[in-house]
Parts: sequence; C-alpha cells; structure tokens
Amino acid sequence: MILVTGGTGLVGSHLLVRLAQENEPIRAIYRTLDSIEKTKKVFSYYTNIAKDLFANIEWVQADITDVPSMIPAFKDVKKVYHCAAIISFDPADYRTMRKVNIHGTAIIANLSIDAKVEKLCFVSSIATIGDDPKKEFANEENDWGGNEKNNGYAITKYGAETEVWRASQEGVDVVIVNPGVILGSGFWDSGSGKMFSQIHKGFSFYSEGVTGFIGVKDVVSSMVQLMESTCKNERFILVSENKSFKEVLFYIAEAFGKKKPTRCVQPWQANLFWRWEWLLSKIMVRKTRMSKYTAKTLHTKTYYTSEKCRTQLEVTFEKIEAVIYQVKNDFLL
Ligand SMILES: NC(=O)c1ccc[n+]([C@@H]2O[C@H](COP(=O)([O-])OP(=O)(O)OC[C@H]3O[C@@H](n4cnc5c(N)ncnc54)[C@H](OP(=O)(O)O)[C@@H]3O)[C@@H](O)[C@H]2O)c1
Repeated sequence: MILVTGGTGLVGSHLLVRLAQENEPIRAIYRTLDSIEKTKKVFSYYTNIAKDLFANIEWVQADITDVPSMIPAFKDVKKVYHCAAIISFDPADYRTMRKVNIHGTAIIANLSIDAKVEKLCFVSSIATIGDDPKKEFANEENDWGGNEKNNGYAITKYGAETEVWRASQEGVDVVIVNPGVILGSGFWDSGSGKMFSQIHKGFSFYSEGVTGFIGVKDVVSSMVQLMESTCKNERFILVSENKSFKEVLFYIAEAFGKKKPTRCVQPWQANLFWRWEWLLSKIMVRKTRMSKYTAKTLHTKTYYTSEKCRTQLEVTFEKIEAVIYQVKNDFLL
C-alpha cells in the first residue's frame, strides 16, 4: 500500500494520476470533500479514463497534525509520499506552518517508523538550499545558514527535513526532493497557478529576479523513480531551468496570445509596497498581498543545478517554455 499526503494539492494530485496507473493499491488523505474535486479535475487533464483511474484511490479523511486521524491511514503502508504542507510567505502564517510543516512531518516520520515503512519520499523545496556566493549554481551540498533568505516557509521546510532525517536514523529509507517553483495544471488560484490566471486576466507587472523552475510532471516522475531506485537517504534539487520571472511571465503571455507585462517592478517600489501591505494587513486584519520576503525574491537572482538528479536518474527535464504551453492548454479546457 502506498500512502500519499497532499493528494488534494498540485504535486500530490499529479502524483496520484501517475500512481493510479500502476498496480499497487494507493491511499490518499483529504481534509474536506470539496478539495477532492480539485484532484478529480487534475485527473481529467490527463486521460478520458480519468474516472476509472480515480476510482483506484482509497480516500481517508485525516489531518497530518492529528495523530488519531492519521493512524488508520498508515494501515499496511509500505511507501509514503509526503507532499502535504502549507506554503506561505506571510509572516502571519508562521505558527500554522510550524504546526503543519514541522510538527505534521514529525507525525509522518513517527508513524512511518512505527509502521516499518520501507521508504518515505518527502517533498521539500529549494528554499532549504543555502546560498554560497563562491558557487555559480547552488547545489545539495550548500550549507543552510541563518541568512535573510530563511523566511518562515524555509525555516519550517528545513525543520521538516530534519524530522525526515530522524526517520532515516530510525530505520526508514528516505529520499528528499527539493523542487524549484513548480508549474503544473490545476490550482489556478494559488501558488504558481496564479501566474497563469493573472496573465490571462491581463497582469501588467514583471520583475527581473531569477530562480529555478520545473514542471510538475518531472517532479512526480523523479519522485517515483527515486522511490523505485535503491537510492536512499539523499536529497535532490529538481530544477529544469533557471529563469527570470520576466521570462516566465512573457512565455505565459505569449502562450495565451496576451499582451506581455510592460511594467518592471523596481526594488524601491516592491519595498514600499510590502510596507504598505504590512500596515494595511494590521489595520484591516487581512492577509498581506506582498511580504518582505516576496518583495526581496522579486529581485534576487539565484541559480540552482539539478546535476545530481539528472546524473543519477539519467533524466532530462522538460524545458519551461514547453511546460507553459502544455499548462496553458489545460487552463483553457
Ligand atoms: N508549488 C510549488 O511551487 C512548490 C515548490 C517547491 C516545493 N513545494 C512543496 O511541494 C509540496 C506540495 O506543494 P503543492 O504546490 O502541491 O501545495 P498545495 O497545492 O498548496 O497543496 C498542499 C496540500 O497539503 C495539504 N495540507 C495542508 N495542510 C494539511 C494538513 N494539516 N493535513 C493534511 N493535509 C494538509 C492540502 O490539503 P487541503 O486540500 O485540505 O488544503 C493540499 O493537499 C509542499 O511540500 C511544498 O512545500 C511546492
């Protein structure tokens, strides 16, 4: 039995499509029934036998921070894909992220140890890969220092990795993947999906910051290959290409046949905006639309290498432009 957490999110739902085509039984956890509908929608992007494939999944209602709800989910489980997490750069979400990302992963680690799970795959992030000014490309060996890049999300993903390493010390084989920004179909109102919906509506801003990007299908396929391989207790950066936000937004605009964004956000504008947003979020008790970290990221240039994964798995990742064209087709469905 394979257990998937986060199966109602971007990575987990595409992973379920992939796993549902194999012969092993799959169980996935969900918190609310309406979130399962999003997974169903993702299945429909792939195949006209989506309904049949979707029926291969056993759904168990559970919350990763709630041990009693998670115990039934671990019955007879041999492999775990842990994708569930909260992704936020709003400092107001820090406590929730600590609870879900660190404490939740500790629970997954403990239950994996108890159930004598054979292998656990954890989806971390490039956010836990430290900077090394001496290197042109950041890789898995970079130290994770206490630098400014370490926003709440990065801290909690790093804390989660520590829990996964603990499981490896207690007999569970683990692999950790550290993807860059993941582009994939579905979930148009959150994460990278917003780039598609906003450009489709006519978004006019871009920035020059650079980071690593990868398509969700490559993330999923690397995870499955790593789980099926003999590789254990290692982590792998998953980045197809390092691109500027400008390039990615321009590709999306081109794919939709929309006007490319014309207004480059300057660092001083982003700095002013996050402060203004912070103030409004306090006065109006609402979420900030841009955190200090996001403002900084818009202009930071970090380059990552996936050499380790490409060499060990002998894979080539799809170019970002091609991923964008594919995702755009699904957006228009
Ligand atoms: N998206 C990216 O660009 C990106 C990049 C690098 C790494 N990652 C990592 O990849 C993983 C998957 O990200 P994603 O983009 O798929 O995120 P997502 O679309 O936001 O999905 C998050 C998933 O986590 C679940 N979840 C959250 N809190 C939970 C809880 N307390 N108990 C059980 N499930 C819970 C959500 O369930 P509900 O549907 O119930 O909310 C949802 O299924 C995360 O670990 C993230 O850190 C993502």
